[in-house]
Amino acid sequence: MSRRILIAGNWKMHLSPDDGAAVVSQLASTVGPASDVEVLVCPTFVGISSALQAAKGSAVQVGAQNCHWEPKGAFTGELSAELLQAAGCSHVILGHSERRQYFGETEETVCLRLQAVLRTGLVPVLCIGETLEERESGQLETVLRRQVTGALAGIAPDQLSSLVVAYEPVWAIGTGVVASTEQAQEAHAFVRSVLREILGSAADAVRILYGGSVKPNNAQELMSQADIDGALVGGASLKAEDFLAIISASKQG
Ligand code: 13P
Repeated sequence: MSRRILIAGNWKMHLSPDDGAAVVSQLASTVGPASDVEVLVCPTFVGISSALQAAKGSAVQVGAQNCHWEPKGAFTGELSAELLQAAGCSHVILGHSERRQYFGETEETVCLRLQAVLRTGLVPVLCIGETLEERESGQLETVLRRQVTGALAGIAPDQLSSLVVAYEPVWAIGTGVVASTEQAQEAHAFVRSVLREILGSAADAVRILYGGSVKPNNAQELMSQADIDGALVGGASLKAEDFLAIISASKQG
């Protein structure tokens, strides 16, 4: 089954609204109004509006890095999926390992957030991935299975047609150590098999992105793997030239 490649940038807590808009302007002028590869940037919350402005007229989409599960209420400092939708976002990253590690994100809260994103019709980008310790102690599959089934628990399969999963081994994030193509493909194939248990043949339409030290020089090989359908890029998405080189390499993959 052919799945459209998605190259997504997670800017984390980087780039001012002006600097982000400058990156998006460069992306927009190269990507143009239509693109075979889907292109997404996820700025900080305060950078969303200027990124959208800069992306106008191009195929570059703008998403968020997290959301709360309630639609509104007394939740100081939080943003709902509804607010992100009203701001013009198309996608929301959920359950990033940094949120799990530093902000107490659990399988239960990721599941609630996923339901909130689905409720609005935005596209969820669900992040999963093991630590080095988990991999080295033989728990890779247990951890990935737990993260996938935990996030999707209680959600009707027909609600999940837009789901995007990002496999990001924690040990490869921001370290310059990329998973080998074999390691990545193996994990992606396993994640797809777990998705198949839950979604049946619809799992074949779910895009599974790889994240963790994706750079212009390794993108093509990663994208050439059968179950790797795109990338979630951190550091290399902060510079338009690098991100564009990844987009262009992914077309050859
Ligand atoms: P790096 O590409 O900087 O390793 O970050 C990956 C990531 O965490 C994307 O969400």
